[in-house]
Amino acid sequence: NHDLNCLSIDDLEKLAYTRMDKMTRDYYNEGADSGSTLLENIKAYEKYRIRPRVLRDVSVIDTSINVFGHKNAVPIGVAPTAMQRLAHSDGELATARACKNKDIAMGLSSFATTSLEDVAKECEGAIPNVLQLYLFEERAHSKKLIARAKKAGFKAVFLTVDTPYLGRRNAEIKNQFKLPGHLKISNFAEDDAEQNDGDNPRTDNLPISANQGTKLKTKNPSVAGRTEGTERVLPTGPITFHTHAANPTLSWEKDIEWLKQECCPEMEVWVKGIATAEDAILALHHQVRGIVVSNHGGRQLNGALATLDALPEVVDAIQGKIPVHVDGGIRHGTDVFKALALGADFVWVGRPALWGLAYKGQEGVELMLRLLSEEFRLCMALAGVTRVQEIAKEYLVKVDKSGF
Ligand code: FNR
Repeated sequence: NHDLNCLSIDDLEKLAYTRMDKMTRDYYNEGADSGSTLLENIKAYEKYRIRPRVLRDVSVIDTSINVFGHKNAVPIGVAPTAMQRLAHSDGELATARACKNKDIAMGLSSFATTSLEDVAKECEGAIPNVLQLYLFEERAHSKKLIARAKKAGFKAVFLTVDTPYLGRRNAEIKNQFKLPGHLKISNFAEDDAEQNDGDNPRTDNLPISANQGTKLKTKNPSVAGRTEGTERVLPTGPITFHTHAANPTLSWEKDIEWLKQECCPEMEVWVKGIATAEDAILALHHQVRGIVVSNHGGRQLNGALATLDALPEVVDAIQGKIPVHVDGGIRHGTDVFKALALGADFVWVGRPALWGLAYKGQEGVELMLRLLSEEFRLCMALAGVTRVQEIAKEYLVKVDKSGF
């Protein structure tokens, strides 16, 4: 029962390409600046080769792993990515159904085009969801969102920490990226309704900033003035990714402690976007429950280290005290194996899920998960490993630049 048109994530990417309009495709696929970090996230996996062991009876393979206290079919989750209804009309609901069917954890973006309640309802009784959080400068919005996530049964929040400002994404700027009028940033639709009287209609379609610090031509002066000079003005008006996601004031002392108070004990607090040993140690010090080594899929600081290259120093610093997850550039089952061999406990995939959605909605996400899961299982078997916990450093060797 193969889809003969789609036997790999590379096939899926090509198939998805033709099914998205240019604005969506560029928004999903691009990285910041030249896109070199996006590319290196992928290429980093080629620097390692697997050292397979043989004659080990690999007739029974267990790919499952526990995450957030539940059994996940494979050590792979679907990373939170914003605005999934751009790819398919079912958007986040299709992703949630696919994850539920496949026993896969799902991260929901704060900037989803489906409300967290609707997604949670879709997943009832399945793997609990993670809510990705951008902590806004106006805490009231975040406080409300956190309370709703708790009520809906989310088990963890991932605070994204690599976005004090938005990375410079030139294709978005060229295309004047905007959310089409029929879609909403659903988690905040209510807040917007409160703020918008009849004279101030929704303006989700605000053109994005060409660059923070550049004067914006928007109707909303507080957005334009937000990062100019030294006087900072809080963003007001409708909550959009481009106006509210970035928060340059976030800090360990001020915000992590506050967030823990708001979330615990019902929800675990994790940080997503750690890329150095120094910050990993601070994460331990501030007693977060886990970290995700991530550079936002190369969409924030271009020139940053590939996540696979950052992983070993973070793993060394954490010394098994809390889980270390990684995302960025995972396109093959062997990539999952390599990340785990370098010490990750779990991986998340972003764009492949969006490509699956664009290709065939829920069925496409299921196909993506099946491809990666099958490849991972086969990789384990051919490397001589029957349980995920056995995957370790001795199964890898790093090759030098020439490939030898
Ligand atoms: C993202 N990512 C992201 N991360 C986050 O914390 N909040 C968000 O709203 C989004 N939105 C988003 C949109 C799109 C279109 C992409 C591609 C990515 C980053 C995401 O969670 C993850 O870190 C990367 O996607 C992982 O890299 P790969 O798997 O896409 O290479």
